[in-house]
Amino acid sequence: MSKTSQRHSKCEITFTVNGKSVTVRAHPMERLLDVLRHELGLTGTKEGCGEGECGSCGVLMDGALVNSCLIPVLQASGAAIVTIEGLSADGRLCALQQAFLQCGGAQCGICTPGMILAALHLLDKAPQPTSQEISEGLSGNLCRCTGYMQIFEAVKEAVRSGASK
Ligand code: FES
Ligand code: FES
Repeated sequence: MSKTSQRHSKCEITFTVNGKSVTVRAHPMERLLDVLRHELGLTGTKEGCGEGECGSCGVLMDGALVNSCLIPVLQASGAAIVTIEGLSADGRLCALQQAFLQCGGAQCGICTPGMILAALHLLDKAPQPTSQEISEGLSGNLCRCTGYMQIFEAVKEAVRSGASK
């Protein structure tokens, strides 16, 4: 096999998504974002810029917040991935999702999954965040619709309702 065809051949890659083990056949350099959306049907993860600037494609990978448009799927081998679909159970939204709904933190919705995962990541590190910590924790996520105030309010509301306990 030539070096070129080796580089382009698919391989099996196993990782967990939302607690379930999955094996996909993919090109090693395929974006995790595309594998999640197209191979696994997890379309909650959104593509905004495709360049690592907007945070819309954010997922948790072994507890770290990453932009899945920048992650070659091979890098996810053996990792635990959490997408927005992993936050609700039996059709019940988690406290952060409820708070975003309640506070108008989601409008067009493109940024929302990434925002919520960034907020979850923040609350994991800082269960009672200050306004500044919220704004810094979500600074990698861009929103064209809300002006951010409702989003920050949603995170505070989620803390009030016990999301970080
Ligand atoms: S789509 Fe990945 S950071 Fe914008
Ligand atoms: S709700 Fe539209 S980009 Fe944030």
